[in-house]
Amino acid sequence: MKKIYLIFLFSFALCAEDFISEFEYGQMLYQSPRGVSCVPCHGETGEGRDIVSYTEDNGTVVMIKGPDIRSSTLTQINDSVKKGNSIMPRYFFTDKEIKTIHAYLEKVNLEETE
Ligand code: HEC
Repeated sequence: MKKIYLIFLFSFALCAEDFISEFEYGQMLYQSPRGVSCVPCHGETGEGRDIVSYTEDNGTVVMIKGPDIRSSTLTQINDSVKKGNSIMPRYFFTDKEIKTIHAYLEKVNLEETE
């Protein structure tokens, strides 16, 4: 009986590790994809960030903003990342890496709203 319990615990630990490392891999990809991270433009968890702004007498004027990508779909992320745009660089990720980034954004934002 003891043995069975141990095997059960062991396989559970294996699954848990798999799950955590995929999340961490997504986080790593999102935070430092080969030098140009998504974070300075889209924020730590995809909430968006002001990239260029200046202060006037009547407040801050935001000229360029990285949009909120917390609810971007896999297709949207795939298209943006592969094509880039006038501000955002193009990235060369595999489909699996893009999926992992998407999964990271979904998971990290699910946790925040809980
Ligand atoms: C240098 C700044 C910059 C970096 C770095 C950057 N982006 Fe962007 N991204 C932008 C800007 C600006 C836009 C909006 C462009 C537009 O609307 O024309 C955008 C658009 C997007 C969009 C489409 C959002 C929408 O609603 O239209 C997605 C998805 C996206 N980026 C994902 C990413 C991911 C994932 C990374 C990292 C691998 C990343 N971006 C890195 C600046 C950046």
